[in-house]
Amino acid sequence: MSEDKLLFDAGKEILKKNDFGGYTVPTQGLYPFQWNWDSAITALGWVKFDEPRAWKELEMLISGQWEDGMIPHILFHKDSDTYFPGPDVWGADKKVKSTSISQPPVLSTIVKKLFEEATDKALRDQKIVEILPHLIRYHLWWYSARDPEKTGLVASYHPWESGMDNSPAWDWALERVPQVTWEYERRDLSHIDAAERPHKEQYDRYLYLVDFFKHNDFDSEVIYRNSPYKTNDVSLIAILHRATLDLLSLCNEFNIGGEDVESLNASVELTKKSICKLWCEETSFFYSRDLITNSLCKVKTNAGFLPLLGGLASKEQVEFLSIEIHEWLAASQYAISSTHPKEISYEPQRYWRGPVWLHVNWLIATGFEDCGEIQTAKKIKYKTEVLFRDFKFYEYFNADTGEGCGGNDFSWTAAIAIYWLLKP
Ligand code: DGY
Repeated sequence: MSEDKLLFDAGKEILKKNDFGGYTVPTQGLYPFQWNWDSAITALGWVKFDEPRAWKELEMLISGQWEDGMIPHILFHKDSDTYFPGPDVWGADKKVKSTSISQPPVLSTIVKKLFEEATDKALRDQKIVEILPHLIRYHLWWYSARDPEKTGLVASYHPWESGMDNSPAWDWALERVPQVTWEYERRDLSHIDAAERPHKEQYDRYLYLVDFFKHNDFDSEVIYRNSPYKTNDVSLIAILHRATLDLLSLCNEFNIGGEDVESLNASVELTKKSICKLWCEETSFFYSRDLITNSLCKVKTNAGFLPLLGGLASKEQVEFLSIEIHEWLAASQYAISSTHPKEISYEPQRYWRGPVWLHVNWLIATGFEDCGEIQTAKKIKYKTEVLFRDFKFYEYFNADTGEGCGGNDFSWTAAIAIYWLLKP
């Protein structure tokens, strides 16, 4: 059997093992629930060998949608005592217990990929017709609840909403958030080496925000006005933009029009006009913005490449980012590090402060493809493959040594390998 076939089968086994009954946990123990962007990306793996199961994954995620349209970052379908903070801390007692924030909305992009990949066209069309109204509500929620002033750039209220939890991009904004004084027991450190996870001080502030949302009854208007943490997350904004374009193309395919679709079209145009606010002329790079101080979070992270998605960056910006990416690919043995190795905050093994993430590499490569930079996309894929073949299915990888970090037998790593890196 070829090496690719063996790896494909190993990836398949990981998804099956992490299947908790219609939804896939990212990894057992450390993350025992359904996470929003993990789950969407996982469907890319399922579709390659079990199409009904891929659709089921997305249906389960949508089953947790709030009445206002939000799809939460975690759905606590079943109890587990291996994770903290659980449903009691979040206090969001909806039809499915959940957190009260969302996560990078890659979901519509994944539905579009499944539309292209699925071989059972009847099942595909039936599922998409059911899913589309939920996706439209989800995207409208982003553009209304998170951008009530119509700036073109949605706001995020928690580092966990970015999916890039302890990125150094959030350090300044998070430092202003008070620390909780109540006692709690972290569970992540009983699964993973503390050197690969965020510090307690950051957790104290993450939990303050969780309490803040709960004490304000999850009221979007109040939180928008008063949240002590409010950012324009460049990665989330770019992922949302590309996903809205994918959603609009599906609406077109299935003859869905009307006011909501027009409103989404208008939002896409507004984001195109506004993204320049996150571009720094001096360093020729994109950054997130702290909305409380109205300043850019100036540390170079892999998020800065994501406005390539859906052609959000201008032609001139694409040229700068193409030069920049080759510098990043050369800067560390394993690429693309989540923080540039020359930044003082770079830590090659600690969660989002340096390690390489396969799904982000896939998104960046997709962005370069969207801009017609096919050779660069291939180079990223090659660098990712080298890392994966040597170190396999970890959550993330040390950018200096390639060593696997965080959880093992990780669902999105298996899915990206199956979908993008391996030829079965
Ligand atoms: C965690 O608990 O580390 C998760 O990333 C939050 O989403």
